[in-house]
Amino acid sequence: MWDRLRKNDQRFGILDNDGRIIPLTSYAAADLPPLSKPLTAVGRFMVRNSPFARILAHRVGKEEVTFYSLLGQPEGAGIGRVLDRRFLKTGGPPLNWRRNKVVQFVRESLSESLDRGTSQITFWDIGSGAGFDSLDVARQLCRLESLGHSLPSYRLINVDVDKVWLRHNEELACALLPKNAQARFRRRNASIFDYLDSARFRDDLSQTEDLIITCNGFADFFALDELRRLLAGIQQATLLASGHVRMVFPMALKNPWQQMLSALVGFDYRARSRRVFEDLLAECIAGMAVSAEVRHSQVVFVLRRTPLSRAGIAP
Ligand SMILES: C[S@@+](CC[C@H](N)C(=O)[O-])C[C@H]1O[C@@H](n2cnc3c(N)ncnc32)[C@H](O)[C@@H]1O
Repeated sequence: MWDRLRKNDQRFGILDNDGRIIPLTSYAAADLPPLSKPLTAVGRFMVRNSPFARILAHRVGKEEVTFYSLLGQPEGAGIGRVLDRRFLKTGGPPLNWRRNKVVQFVRESLSESLDRGTSQITFWDIGSGAGFDSLDVARQLCRLESLGHSLPSYRLINVDVDKVWLRHNEELACALLPKNAQARFRRRNASIFDYLDSARFRDDLSQTEDLIITCNGFADFFALDELRRLLAGIQQATLLASGHVRMVFPMALKNPWQQMLSALVGFDYRARSRRVFEDLLAECIAGMAVSAEVRHSQVVFVLRRTPLSRAGIAP
């Protein structure tokens, strides 16, 4: 999916199987929502001139930020293009590195489950946006099926507060996947906190054997109490799975230059020390082995649980 991402005339799109572009959202100034907070004169200048700064300011924590960063092609004219290149040079490597780590995590987790011969897989993408990762899982499984492999039963759960992106996920699934794979999706348009409190959460996760969880790109904006609530909910979900559980959890570490540029345009993510995240994970998640990789002032945690290490954890 990620290789199919394109932009043209200030609109993102996805290349379909016939070489046509499926349009996604526009990032033209006139199509963006109002700023989330007032900016300084310098911030306003940057947002007016650099398209990436404008996306960061108007679409805080949304897919457009990831997409523009992944495509990495500066736009704007004159000083605007210079600024855009500067913003991409600062924001691109951390965002792209952690995104690629998620892609790698999903592919590895899926092939581990398939190699083990698991009979059921639930892929749960929290803050899924357009849900490219679930589309990738479905595409890989469809490819295996077309090669004659028998597949485990599987379910793809995308939770997002933004219904625009869930709708795009549905459109992309319809355009790129056969009907039987389209039926595997469950799209939940809710804040993760409302979802965790709803009856749907238990229903969606019931009868899960292997559980693969991705959680990328939104929790960086959470206060510590919200992170605790999120992780406590994930802990409950892991207890509903009878088999292996894998989770990827990238977060931002402190970096004065990255934080200063982001703050100028109102992209107010919360950077913390690695230790804070390790303590939170130790406090909220039981029975999972935690590993971490650090680069570009980002930390990507991977949590793993085997059915054996689940034994003895109170529900
Ligand atoms: C930057 S996008 C990342 C999308 C995708 N996970 C990725 O890695 O490319 C973050 C997504 O999280 C969603 N989001 C933000 N707060 C959320 C919340 N409280 N509950 C569920 N989704 C949320 C946003 O609407 C957005 O689509």
